[in-house]
Amino acid sequence: MQNYVKIVQEFVEEQRVGIACALVAGVGVLALQRWKAGGVCRSKACLNGKTVLITGANTGIGKETAVDIAKRGARVILACRDLDRAHAAAEDIRKRSGNNDVVVKKLELASLQSVRALAKDIHEHEDRLDILINNAGIMMCPKWKTEDGFEMQFGVNHLGHFLLTNLLLDKLKKSAPSRIVNVSSCAHEKGQIYFDDINLDKDYDPLKSYQQSKLANVLFSRELAARLKGTGVCVYSLHPGVVNTELGRYLFSTMALWKIILFKPLFLILKSPWQGAQTTIYCAVDEGLQNTTGLYYSDCAPKEEAPQAKSDSAARRLWDLSASMVEMA
Ligand SMILES: NC(=O)c1ccc[n+]([C@@H]2O[C@H](COP(=O)([O-])OP(=O)(O)OC[C@H]3O[C@@H](n4cnc5c(N)ncnc54)[C@H](OP(=O)(O)O)[C@@H]3O)[C@@H](O)[C@H]2O)c1
Repeated sequence: MQNYVKIVQEFVEEQRVGIACALVAGVGVLALQRWKAGGVCRSKACLNGKTVLITGANTGIGKETAVDIAKRGARVILACRDLDRAHAAAEDIRKRSGNNDVVVKKLELASLQSVRALAKDIHEHEDRLDILINNAGIMMCPKWKTEDGFEMQFGVNHLGHFLLTNLLLDKLKKSAPSRIVNVSSCAHEKGQIYFDDINLDKDYDPLKSYQQSKLANVLFSRELAARLKGTGVCVYSLHPGVVNTELGRYLFSTMALWKIILFKPLFLILKSPWQGAQTTIYCAVDEGLQNTTGLYYSDCAPKEEAPQAKSDSAARRLWDLSASMVEMA
């Protein structure tokens, strides 16, 4: 035993610098992991008897949100465009949550006809809708158009959800207290709404379009919250963090190899999908938010949105424009 202690002492003596470096690096990695994890939803809210619809729930943040919501006992509707992927995800969500009441419904947000069909299905077949989570999203795709001829990112991230939410409002009001959660992004901070060229026909840029669509999510939440005051339906928008999901699929497919290699170390500081789902879950279930509406959140806490996201006149103008666009289609 004495020999053993002596060997360890000698080793520590010889490797003082190395051990100190390893300790500092270890503490650094732990601190980094803790910092990147962000906030965690601590609510134990039970959702037995409630129905929750989540768009884009077959992967990423939406799927992790669905697992958590299912564990709380709700009936969970996965509204997805790819039914094969959605059924595989539903099976996995049932297994991980122990809740068999997880169903799949078709939703292609790039088709307003598909949005209308889903809303009709919900009205005809669901008794209630307690929480609507507008999560699905597409980022920095090439210049594509939706089935109705709208620019793809604005069409999917904003217009599709705008129409879906409006068509489901009666159900949400009847189920009140109920909630609408809009998953936006810190990308809204650099965004502006190009009212005179909403489809960016004159000057399409994938990032500009994503930023516009995510600003639209926050402005939509603001105006919706104002319109729903007194109905018992609360509205929340949020930034989930920078999360390791499939969202970058178009970004990386067009990027030079050397840039991808340079980007790789950054993946170490990305949140996991579970970590990225925490603020969505918090907004959907936390009891402390029951009487709060219209705010923007990040890391399970309120956060000030960008100045251009606080403009009531822009929020109203965007609402009117969106309403006329979905009416025309
Ligand atoms: N990841 C991040 O760092 C990050 C940061 C800020 C904000 N967000 C926001 O978080 C939300 C979730 O993104 P994620 O990171 O989880 O991305 P993801 O892994 O790519 O998941 C996106 C989901 O949206 C669905 N979707 C895409 N286009 C659709 C359409 N036309 N119709 C119906 N569903 C469609 C996808 O379906 P398919 O599987 O069929 O493609 C998928 O289920 C998005 O709103 C995104 O803007 C993410």
